[in-house]
Amino acid sequence: MRVYRSIRSLAKKVSEIKKRKKTIGLVPTMGFLHEGHASLIRKARKDTGCVIVSIFINPAQFGPGEDFKKYPRNLKKDLDLCEKEGADIIFVPEAREMYPDGYSTHVNVEGITEKLCGISRPGHFRGVTTVVTKLFNITMPDIAYFGQKDCQQAIVIKKMALDLNMDVDIKVMPVVRGKNGLAMSSRNVYLGEDERVQAASLYKALRLARRLFNQGERNSGKIISKMKQVISKEPAAKIDYIAIVDTKELKAIKKISGVALVAVAVRVGNTRLIDNVILN
Ligand code: PAJ
Repeated sequence: MRVYRSIRSLAKKVSEIKKRKKTIGLVPTMGFLHEGHASLIRKARKDTGCVIVSIFINPAQFGPGEDFKKYPRNLKKDLDLCEKEGADIIFVPEAREMYPDGYSTHVNVEGITEKLCGISRPGHFRGVTTVVTKLFNITMPDIAYFGQKDCQQAIVIKKMALDLNMDVDIKVMPVVRGKNGLAMSSRNVYLGEDERVQAASLYKALRLARRLFNQGERNSGKIISKMKQVISKEPAAKIDYIAIVDTKELKAIKKISGVALVAVAVRVGNTRLIDNVILN
């Protein structure tokens, strides 16, 4: 396993790998890696000949007042996890390597980025699609791996790759959860002990949605109002949104007929958490 900090040296390495006709799998991350990230690296290891993991806390996707400055980091531990999962190359650029002085180009997917998380985090997805485009151009992956945990992000990246004819296969892997059902997230370290217990209400509400759906309920309004009751019981929880939408345009669905995405965003104390399930 080798760590690269400069784009130029990594690009040189990538062109050697391409010459040897090895397939490249890319796992973009912001570090502070956990079992969710590990599941993506493992899948990339299975599918491809060369696994590249990027670790970059991308300033462009944080809004003013968000947690960019205090975002957790532990490079030593991250490198150990990558090594253990069999990654070949770790790309850890500095912010000025990715965004040098005078940087002025952005990639923006319209429409779907203005819904769900886009409402309370304006500009967030523009930061994500910009950095992911740069990572694709630098590492030239055959397959790039993303988590269903960030369902809107995965949908936005798929749309970007389609719209811009990017020659990369986007694979989306299932949500990895802790024992109490809480979706793993680097941001879970912000949660106090009691908040962590309350945070389990997101998945409790999502499980309830699935149960109601399986019992034949198709009215989204009814499902959402029951989910609200579950989360509102927790004193530290403030709902940002609970939505039932289609998986392409993220338009609200009133009566569920095909596949539906149930997505929630909740602030528990000062920590914003997201989770989702798919009803099929
Ligand atoms: P980060 O939050 O570090 O997540 C990196 C990848 O891991 C994302 O694709 C995310 O969906 C996936 N992931 C996180 N938690 C997961 C879980 N519990 N189960 C399954 N997959 C999980 O998402 C980002 O970084 C950034 O926005 C990035 C795409 C790297 C662009 O900066």
